[in-house]
Parts: sequence; structure tokens; C-alpha cells
Amino acid sequence: MTELTEAGAARSNHGAVLFYSEFDDPETWGEALRANLPGLDFRVYPDVGNPEDIRHVLAWKPFPGFFAPFRNLAQVVNLGAGIDSLVGRTDLPEVPISRLSDPGMVALMRSYVLFAVIRYARDIPSFEQAQRRGEWRYIHPRPLNRIKVGVLGLGHLGAAVATGLADAGFDVRGYDHAPKAIHGVTCHDATTDRAAFLSEVEILVNMMPLTAKTKGLIDRSVFDALPRGAKFVNASRGPVVDEPALVAALQSGQIGGATLDVFWVEPLPAEHPFWTMENVLITPHLASITVPEAAARDVAESIRRVSAGGEPLHRVDPQRGY
Ligand code: GLV
Repeated sequence: MTELTEAGAARSNHGAVLFYSEFDDPETWGEALRANLPGLDFRVYPDVGNPEDIRHVLAWKPFPGFFAPFRNLAQVVNLGAGIDSLVGRTDLPEVPISRLSDPGMVALMRSYVLFAVIRYARDIPSFEQAQRRGEWRYIHPRPLNRIKVGVLGLGHLGAAVATGLADAGFDVRGYDHAPKAIHGVTCHDATTDRAAFLSEVEILVNMMPLTAKTKGLIDRSVFDALPRGAKFVNASRGPVVDEPALVAALQSGQIGGATLDVFWVEPLPAEHPFWTMENVLITPHLASITVPEAAARDVAESIRRVSAGGEPLHRVDPQRGY
């Protein structure tokens, strides 16, 4: 290992890369990065070697104090799209921080939300229930362009989701605090009356990042502003939603169904009421995952750029939270 590391360091002028993740496969990442940067000195935690060699950290949910030994750090790459687990911590080094973004991740997210929205739009949960009763239950399909879908959060992934839904034929309205322009999507910003926006939305999709400002933002007032029986899809982060308020809205029928990929606590605790709710579809936080082969190209480019004194790709603002 030491020999390999030294040979790599000799061949690469980028400094060493340290990988830390309990979720991602270091071998796949190492291969994908070396395919772009031959000879890269790629180290996998806890085999750090000399901490002063480490110039680039690729990490997903590093533990508190993780960064302390790396005095020559030049950048941190968050091994995911959402940076909420990195920001807000007090030990974040003062180096550029970036997130992953790759077409594979975008396509997975778009496909998840399309699936969830189409499932409701085509009344699939009703057919699933009717089948269990052995019942031929005809529900006349509604034209998709009459079904109003609202997307909250029009960042990189939210915009791709909104475009995908519009391309599929839905009447899509997006809401973001900042003004956005997306072809085929009616975009609203902070100047729009939120309750008026929500009052027309039949299927609401949450694509907001988790920040200090969005925590708990989707609360009872949001659910109450939707038409009775509206559906809800959460594919971003659990804590953006007031979970007890969602449980209550699902129990009362104010929300007719929910497709949830993310939760306050993951894995979702066994005793959580969502598990036994007929009108909830639970998936275990996989709406979108990183495809290392695709993402590594941009990470390698960031390593090149930062080593040359430049800016990484997909840089985030830890203060803002995305
Ligand atoms: C997954 O949730 C991610 O942020 O990439």
C-alpha cells in the first residue's frame, strides 16, 4: 500500500486524494478517477498515510473532527448532491467545497419523480387496491395537461424534474425563492402568494435543499393550502417537511397520498406511522444516486483546476447551504 501510494504520488502532481464514505464503493471511485487522472495518489480512509499529503477530500458524511489533521487541504468534494450534512458543522475547513452533479444522477432523479407523479396521475394506487379486492374498477383517465403539478425548488435537480414533467405533458408550475425561467414551466418566486400557488396544485413535489431556511418549511399551512386530496412527493430531504403535520394531513385525507424517499430519521424507524399507512409509498432514500463513472469526470476536472489554483466545478456556498 505504501509503495503503491508513493509511486502514485511520484506520477501525479495533484497531491493526494482522500476518500471517505460508508456508502460509496472506494474501488469504483478510485478506478473512475484514475481513468481520468492516471497515476493519481488515491487513498481510502483510514489508510491516510501522511496527512500533510492530502490536498483533496472526497467525502460523504465525514465524522466530526475528520478534517483536523489535513493542514494542506485545497478542496472538499461532497460525494452527493445535498450538502446539508457538511454545512452547519463547526469544523469545516476554509477551502472550496463542491458537490457532485452528473447526468446519471439527474436522470435518476427525474425518473423517480416522473414515476411517482405518473403513478398518481394514472390512478395506479386505486388499481392496486382494486386488484387486491379482485375488482375491475374503471377510472376514466384525465388528460395529463389538465393535471397541475407543483415543484418546490428549482435548483439543478428541481429544474430538471420540472422540465421532465412538462415534457411528459403535465401542467407544471414551479416555485423557487429566486426568479427562474424554465421552458414549458410556469415559474413563481418569492413575490408570488404562496397560498394562491398551492391552491391549484394537485401533486406537489418537494425538490428544495435542506438549509436553515427550509427546515420544516413544508408544514401544516402548506398542506392546508393544497386542494383536498392532493398528493405529495418528497425526493429531496426529510427535514424540509414537518413530518407530524404530514402524518396528520394523510390521516385526515387532506393529503390523499404521499411518495416519500427521505425522512427525518433514516432508516425510517420501525414504529413510524408511515409504515402502516395505505396511502404512503416508502422508498429507502435512493431517488437519485451518484454514478461514479459519470461524476468522476467532473471531480477529476476539479482536481486539475484546484491544483492549478482555479475553482472546482459545482462549487457550493456553505453559508447559503447549496
Ligand atoms: C443524496 O441524497 C444526495 O444528496 O446525493
